[in-house]
Amino acid sequence: MRKSFKSVALLIVVLLLTALVAACGKGDSKVSVGIVLPTKDEPRWVQDEQRFKDALKGSKYTTEILFSQGSSAKEKENVETLINKGIKVLIICPQDGDAAAAAVEAAKDEGIKVISYDRLITNTDAVDYYVTFDSVSVGAAQAQYLVDNAKGSGEPLYLYAGAASDNNAFLFFQGAWNVLQPKIADGTFKIANSSEAEALKDTKDLSRDQLSKIIGQVTTNWDPNEAKNKAQTHLTAAAADMKGDVAILAPNDGTARSIADVFGADSAVSSYVVTGQDAEQASIQYVIDGKQSMTVFKDVRTLVKDAMGMAVDILDGKDPATTGSYNNGKVDVKAKQTNVITVNKDNVQKELIDSAYYKASDFTGL
Ligand code: BGC
Repeated sequence: MRKSFKSVALLIVVLLLTALVAACGKGDSKVSVGIVLPTKDEPRWVQDEQRFKDALKGSKYTTEILFSQGSSAKEKENVETLINKGIKVLIICPQDGDAAAAAVEAAKDEGIKVISYDRLITNTDAVDYYVTFDSVSVGAAQAQYLVDNAKGSGEPLYLYAGAASDNNAFLFFQGAWNVLQPKIADGTFKIANSSEAEALKDTKDLSRDQLSKIIGQVTTNWDPNEAKNKAQTHLTAAAADMKGDVAILAPNDGTARSIADVFGADSAVSSYVVTGQDAEQASIQYVIDGKQSMTVFKDVRTLVKDAMGMAVDILDGKDPATTGSYNNGKVDVKAKQTNVITVNKDNVQKELIDSAYYKASDFTGL
């Protein structure tokens, strides 16, 4: 009798402890805001992770950041992991704008609010908000730099673009084309490496299909190695009149550095002007060293602040403030947009050091 009482009591204690441990476990894994970023392989997104961490110090909200490593399948898995941790808001920068639709639809089904971060998730109604830089003006700033630094007329122009799976690649190229096309038409530039762009050189407003054709031909897929191989192929094929002083539209810093290295190593290229974007630390060093001409500074601190501000508003039951909207092919997504800044040797100190984005000691020769 006593013996069985003892074992029942023991069983109850064990059960209570198990329940307690389970409850604690659940408590530990509760996350209110899930953040999914595309890859750790590009400094741009590691920078975003760091800026999120800086912004979240001392916050009462629990967050978790996961990386998709360039895979839409991994991205979906990450979203599912976060759904299981009870998130109420998902901040996600898609690897592939179309493919991410399935992941955010799964989140929507659970009543989670979705904020598309930097890149728009396309062709789904499961995106609630979009925080972004003014991407058309990124491309326009790059192109304007090439125009402002053009040497005479008939200068060879090499065009490169981002990945076609990224809606931003279209916006960047569209912005650049708006500025470059009149300068191609008036003979300032001659296109060196794209028969598709050449065929459209008299068309100012390109349709999505026309943009697709050019991007399909000059894409880097956001991959510095692919950019390097393409640049090498283009220079090998280029006739002498496509060398000398050249202008290069490179879509971002990672691809700009590798394209610049290829052009810098060709003795028939006497000078080059090359664009970039992201103000990556390595590119700022390239700008200081005169190897990359400019970059477009997108202050990630602002994007992070906007995304977290929206998330907190949602958690507090408020409607986040927006400044406009973007059509994603299915719906108009309410958006908050941030301006960008052209940076070259002349204003790098002011924009990036004085603003405390980087430390002077991060660079040599400043
Ligand atoms: C981002 C850029 C980035 C590129 C490659 C774009 O969507 O806006 O900042 O360089 O993707 O990751």
